[in-house]
Amino acid sequence: MISASIMCANWMRLEEDLRALEQAGVRYIHYDVMDGFFVEDYCLGTSIINEIRANTFLAADYHLMVEEPIRILRNFTPDEGAILSIHYEACRNLHRDLIRVKRQGFQAGLVLNPATTLNAIEYVIDEVDTITIMTVNPGFKGQKLVPQMLKKIEALAQLRSRLKLGFKISVDGNVDADNIPAMVAAGADTLVGGSSGLFVAGRPLADSIVAMRRCIEVGLAMR
Ligand code: DX5
Ligand code: ZN
Repeated sequence: MISASIMCANWMRLEEDLRALEQAGVRYIHYDVMDGFFVEDYCLGTSIINEIRANTFLAADYHLMVEEPIRILRNFTPDEGAILSIHYEACRNLHRDLIRVKRQGFQAGLVLNPATTLNAIEYVIDEVDTITIMTVNPGFKGQKLVPQMLKKIEALAQLRSRLKLGFKISVDGNVDADNIPAMVAAGADTLVGGSSGLFVAGRPLADSIVAMRRCIEVGLAMR
């Protein structure tokens, strides 16, 4: 599945981008929310998000790069199929917060920064619907893959089958033609398309999506 990181869209032509994403059959719109504290930058408040939500049928995939996201959880509306992901590193009471995300009607997502080990999530892993491996450090588009993350995706996929769990594995950061085959081969189910592989200057979105799907096929064949 492809989740389109809307902060990387062409904001001068947002409507065209939305229609192209819908036509090409991407699965989610990925909304990056940044608080200037958990990460340095600011991004996408709910007034902007709700405007986009009102103008597309694509399901929401919220990525809260926010310290103690529980404080602002009520600002988000759980539309059909929406995922809301919070960071391991941002929650003092992670288990409680994941339960609250689910109780509010979202699929519960957990995001791990590159430095966070998989051991850290042992006691919450059976509460989550999606685990996102950050393949760059969060906060900015256009960064390079942290190469150790390919092993981490693979380890998470092995852990999932060992525990017989059904959560999805998502990857976020530098998802491009060079990296998609290895990410998918390692076990990624959902790819967050950003500035490196989806919203590429001078290239139509439809072409990017065809190229991404070709790379996904290569990765699946490597499994
Ligand atoms: C990174 C964001 C991503 C970003 C990835 O902090 O969470 O969603 O848009 O896009 P790239 O790495 O391709 O620019
Ligand atoms: Zn993101």
